[in-house]
Amino acid sequence: MSSDQRSPLDYGMNRLWSTPIRLRNLLQEGIVEPELHEWLENFADSAELVSGPLDYLRDPSKRYSRYDLSVFASPQQPELIRIKSILVAQADQYVRDEIVDPLPAHDKYVVSWFVIQHPQNAEEAPAPHYHESGDVAMVYYLTPPSNRSGSLVMFDPRGTVARGGRALPLHKAFVEFFPRRGDLIIFPRYIKHSTTPNTGATKRKVIAGIVAYDDPHRSRFRYEAQAEDLCCI
Ligand SMILES: [Fe+2]
Repeated sequence: MSSDQRSPLDYGMNRLWSTPIRLRNLLQEGIVEPELHEWLENFADSAELVSGPLDYLRDPSKRYSRYDLSVFASPQQPELIRIKSILVAQADQYVRDEIVDPLPAHDKYVVSWFVIQHPQNAEEAPAPHYHESGDVAMVYYLTPPSNRSGSLVMFDPRGTVARGGRALPLHKAFVEFFPRRGDLIIFPRYIKHSTTPNTGATKRKVIAGIVAYDDPHRSRFRYEAQAEDLCCI
């Protein structure tokens, strides 16, 4: 990783509470085989993976489904099964390293989808958003534009004030990340993010996803029952 990329990813107001954004290149590290990567790049050309129009926002049943979420729900192709398993393993490791190790008992929920941005189509660039239903969000870059467009812009809602309240001379509350082929980036759900339009000559292809580590159902119901008891005393 070049120093100009490393520097913003180390973004943080101090050493104790930096923003835990993880970057690694799965292709260079041999975690994703070149053949698998190429297969996924070709698969991303499937017509059904093109995102729906912004008009979907007016339809409550489609508001959160501009993308085909069914592709990774119960994948049949071994390549989709493999990349899903790789990405979930990376999310698990990230959570262990950054949040808690060992992971407590949990029910895990994984939702993944392809995001395709055609050249010169600003409407396909995801607007600023959070992934509230997950604990972590991740993006695996199949084919980034070659001209440094289609960057990922991440905002830390904790702002530019030092932890503890001391104002710092740094007023840039966002990190702009210019991906390379094979990069995987993982970040916590409180990071609002967006993508800039693809102004390159080729399609921008990524796999995005979220992973949620929920209480096991039984303990969650137990907790809710206790909360109800408490409220009614
Ligand atoms: Fe996102």
